[in-house]
Amino acid sequence: MKHCNHIIRFIVVFIFIGIGFFAVRSYLVPDSFGIYGSYSYGFHRGDSDAEQASIPALYQESESCKECHEAVYRTWSNGGHAGVTCEACHGPWQAHNENTLDTVVKDTSVEGCMVCHVTLQARPAGFPQIDDFASHVKEQGEEVQQDMDCTFCHEPHEPK
Ligand code: HEC
Ligand code: HEC
Ligand code: HEC
Ligand code: HEC
Repeated sequence: MKHCNHIIRFIVVFIFIGIGFFAVRSYLVPDSFGIYGSYSYGFHRGDSDAEQASIPALYQESESCKECHEAVYRTWSNGGHAGVTCEACHGPWQAHNENTLDTVVKDTSVEGCMVCHVTLQARPAGFPQIDDFASHVKEQGEEVQQDMDCTFCHEPHEPK
């Protein structure tokens, strides 16, 4: 029994480490995590649901534009761009909603259309693609004029 002290000391140190662990843990783990003790939420912090829900939505889908832009909405939904959401071209609704009209994107540039329509090997063969502006215009039997862009011939909401 000569060496009994070593073991007792070891156990005491161990108990203090254990108490320290739970003390630090209770301080660091957020209150709603797992709903403490019962873990009814599993490995999840309950408060994060409310936090996420309170972040204003950046994008709101094309339906949200219908109320105020009825005519454009009707044109668009019957046209060849019906599969492209308003916000894909005009930027997130939230920018508009904050009442800063200059943040609503209205990009009529050739580049703006070519992002989606330039010929790429990776695009499905049936997707409408053009090689470049000048040769496309020539194919239509027209001359490229100054200030001409895609919207000269195509209405963006009903491109055909
Ligand atoms: C609550 C009403 C309302 C909603 C909803 C709304 N808008 Fe507008 N929007 C306006 C008003 C008002 C103007 C400024 C008047 C104008 O220029 O016709 C405007 C202007 C615009 C313009 C610029 C028009 C221009 O000539 O410069 C664009 C583009 C636009 N909105 C797109 C959208 C899109 C896309 C959505 C949906 C994500 C949307 N709007 C939702 C009311 C609204
Ligand atoms: C393919 C891209 C694209 C999509 C999709 C699109 N727009 Fe536009 N929109 C444009 C461009 C480009 C203009 C600028 C046209 C111009 O100035 O000639 C424009 C102009 C507008 C304007 C200004 C008034 C007008 O008629 O020129 C409004 C309002 C508008 N868009 C709302 C919408 C709404 C609402 C939707 C969805 C229902 C939508 N847009 C979908 C590209 C798009
Ligand atoms: C965000 C991507 C995107 C942008 C930007 C875009 N388009 Fe499109 N466009 C599409 C998609 C998707 C289709 C439908 C393809 C299909 O039907 O398979 C389409 C279809 C078309 C068609 C064929 C329409 C039809 O009825 O067959 C034309 C023409 C066209 N776009 C012109 C334009 C012009 C001009 C612009 C610039 C103002 C533009 N697009 C900007 C994605 C885009
Ligand atoms: C001078 C007028 C004119 C201009 C400018 C113009 N287009 Fe066109 N585009 C046409 C005509 C006309 C057609 C229809 C051709 C057909 O059906 O054979 C067409 C067809 C298309 C198609 C469908 C091709 C297909 O294979 O189905 C796309 C996509 C297109 N244009 C995109 C654009 C883009 C993007 C721009 C700007 C970079 C642009 N166009 C500029 C007149 C024009």
